[in-house]
Amino acid sequence: MVASSEAGAFGFLAAAVMTPAEIASKIAAVRAATSRPFGVNFHMFQPGAAEIVDLIIANRDQVRAVSFGRGPNAAAITRFRNAGILCIPTVGALKHAVKMQALGVDMITVQGGEGGGHTGSVPTTILLPQVLDAVRIPVIAAGGMADGRALAAALAYGAVGIAMGTRFLMTRESPVAEAAKRCYLKADTDDIVLTTKLDGLPHRMLRTRFVDRLAVSGRLSMWMRAFECARDMKYQTGASWPELIRSANAMRTHGAATLPQALLAAAAPMLIRRAVIDGDAETGIMATGLVAGRLADLPTCRDLVDGIIADANTRLAALAGGASVASAA
Ligand SMILES: Cc1cc2nc3c(=O)[nH]c(=O)nc-3n(C[C@H](O)[C@H](O)[C@H](O)COP(=O)(O)O)c2cc1C
Repeated sequence: MVASSEAGAFGFLAAAVMTPAEIASKIAAVRAATSRPFGVNFHMFQPGAAEIVDLIIANRDQVRAVSFGRGPNAAAITRFRNAGILCIPTVGALKHAVKMQALGVDMITVQGGEGGGHTGSVPTTILLPQVLDAVRIPVIAAGGMADGRALAAALAYGAVGIAMGTRFLMTRESPVAEAAKRCYLKADTDDIVLTTKLDGLPHRMLRTRFVDRLAVSGRLSMWMRAFECARDMKYQTGASWPELIRSANAMRTHGAATLPQALLAAAAPMLIRRAVIDGDAETGIMATGLVAGRLADLPTCRDLVDGIIADANTRLAALAGGASVASAA
């Protein structure tokens, strides 16, 4: 994250399964490593969320934005806005974009179905113009973005920029385990699946033996997996059982159908961390965008960001220099 910020992008600290104490120490570490502004990604259903909001606001001189998939209420958004911190939720459906605008957020990241992790069903090419037509606030395009062509295209659609998850995951500096990086590099588009089996929500990930087992698992094994994940999550976040159940129940209003699925939804970032950071592909999941299927290199963040800007500028200049669409008449 520090490398992406230093390269000129706006990095977000992924804090969805951190305790407030961990977030405090990570924010301090980022502050020590860069003077660039950065954001924090979290969600309001995670244990200790109220404390996390306070923590972010206390660091408002450098934490300039928050992003969230499952969003804060209007009160939290107002607190961030009063502190001068931009609220930039990620949405995967038109109705969520409209709702977020009504709640008073500053910008919206639109993630088309190609995107990594929890994702919607509508591809970027459809969702982006849908949202652009429906809201008045600035929109950032995400889901499948990886190069200068994508940036130029997003600007042409009317977005103000692009957000990338998978492309930054596949960089030299990303903290992803080497074993996991090799899996991402090897993956073809056919090796990337969208499943609701994990937690009831559509989730894009690399196909692994764990994911194949998941596909055929019955109710009992779902319960067992949910219990194990909740126990690990309790250990990792220090949350109590009632807090975990509350967090899981909140997920049920976001698409997870059953309690075991809701527990797995709450634990999903932890399962991603297990595979992606700790390199344990057997019991974790490697969330990814479909774009990993066409990426075959691990550039430095600096080369990546510079290359994207240079390529987008070349393409935009070429278009501005007289390219036009021939009349159909
Ligand atoms: C491994 C992985 C983990 C992710 N974790 C989160 C998360 O914890 N919170 C969140 O809001 N988005 C998360 N995302 C989604 C990204 O923030 C971003 O919107 C998405 O990756 C954009 O699509 P792309 O993968 O095609 O670039 C994750 C994506 C990936 C690939």
